[in-house]
Amino acid sequence: MSLDQDIRAQFPQLNRSIRGQRLIYLDSGATTLKPGSVIEAVKQNMAQGTANVHRGAHLLSDEATEKFEDVREKLRAFVGADDRSEIVFTKGTTEAINLLASTLGPTILKPGDEILLSQMEHHSNIVPWQMAAQLAGAKIRYIPVLEDGSLDFATFKTMLSNKTKIVSLVHLSNALGTINPLSRFFKEAKAKGAVCVVDAAQSVSVLDIDVDELGCDFLVFSGHKLFAPTGVGVLYGRKAWLEKLPPYQGGGSMISEVREDSSDYLPPPHRFEAGTPPIAEVLGLGAAIDFVKDIGFANIRSHERLIMQIVEEGAVRIGGIQRYGLAPDRSHVFSFLIPGVHPSDVGAILDEQGIAVRAGHHCCQPLMRRFGIPGTVRASFSVYTSEADVAGFLQGVQKAKELLT
Ligand code: ALA
Repeated sequence: MSLDQDIRAQFPQLNRSIRGQRLIYLDSGATTLKPGSVIEAVKQNMAQGTANVHRGAHLLSDEATEKFEDVREKLRAFVGADDRSEIVFTKGTTEAINLLASTLGPTILKPGDEILLSQMEHHSNIVPWQMAAQLAGAKIRYIPVLEDGSLDFATFKTMLSNKTKIVSLVHLSNALGTINPLSRFFKEAKAKGAVCVVDAAQSVSVLDIDVDELGCDFLVFSGHKLFAPTGVGVLYGRKAWLEKLPPYQGGGSMISEVREDSSDYLPPPHRFEAGTPPIAEVLGLGAAIDFVKDIGFANIRSHERLIMQIVEEGAVRIGGIQRYGLAPDRSHVFSFLIPGVHPSDVGAILDEQGIAVRAGHHCCQPLMRRFGIPGTVRASFSVYTSEADVAGFLQGVQKAKELLT
């Protein structure tokens, strides 16, 4: 089933022309375009609803606070959390992982402990843990990626021990499209008492997330890859864990009492939300969740499968394309190289034709090193990707191949 043209009509940016040609936007893995309802929610807040939250001495502030907290409740339901206090607003995935590494690290890590990541992690799920490991004298180990782009479950099991304190894994790889069966990994990790963290940055717009089904303790994602503005993201944490963690930043809104020499902190989630939050962006995120729920994940997924099938068949017809990421379960990412050609050169030829893709290491240098390549060309799809977009992309790749080989 193809998603209705109505969906495309909701994205004003699709009307832009690029270099005099129709925009073919295939960089949704980097950030999704924004539908009219999200733009309207942000505009409405800025034009009519501006007020600070949680400081209500007047009606506007009360209204803003209520709308803001309604989004927290919407997010609770969206990820299947038990309590809205388990939803912490952050700037995005990166800040959420930094928050976690900075607070969970000192709380539980001792010298010699281990953090398990995988070779396919985004730098944002590596570097903060490296910092936490350095502080604690802990060690990071990487679950290998197999040739098809899936995680090596058998090796993972042998890596687990009572030294494993944190297992932090990507749900859907931004560079390969692999969907990792995380509940299987976390079941093993939990048996060793490890804390389990999900990077859901890419999965949140295509998979129906349920934190209980995943069996995780924490889960993070950004608004901007879910049709919402930049500058807002979410850290989900189980209440019992969040209550054990110290604040990440100090300031207004996160305290119950400030004395000259010490302060008492609010319980979660406010303990982790110092300062004025991104109010308009949170309201935009609320509208984005409504947008996704209205379409429904079953429809989103079947559209994604259809688009991917057309791309994959087209690539076989072109021939001579080296794919990366062929795990049986995968989604919305088509990562490839034309052998002997630098990915940036392919990206530049596509750009000349109004086709936006990403070329490079995709913030996954350990993964690129594992495959012995400098990077890939990545086309990534979303609900508004049309069959005409895919046809244009395939023609662009054909042209790049003719020009560059
Ligand atoms: N993490 C984003 C990407 O994969 C920026 O492009």
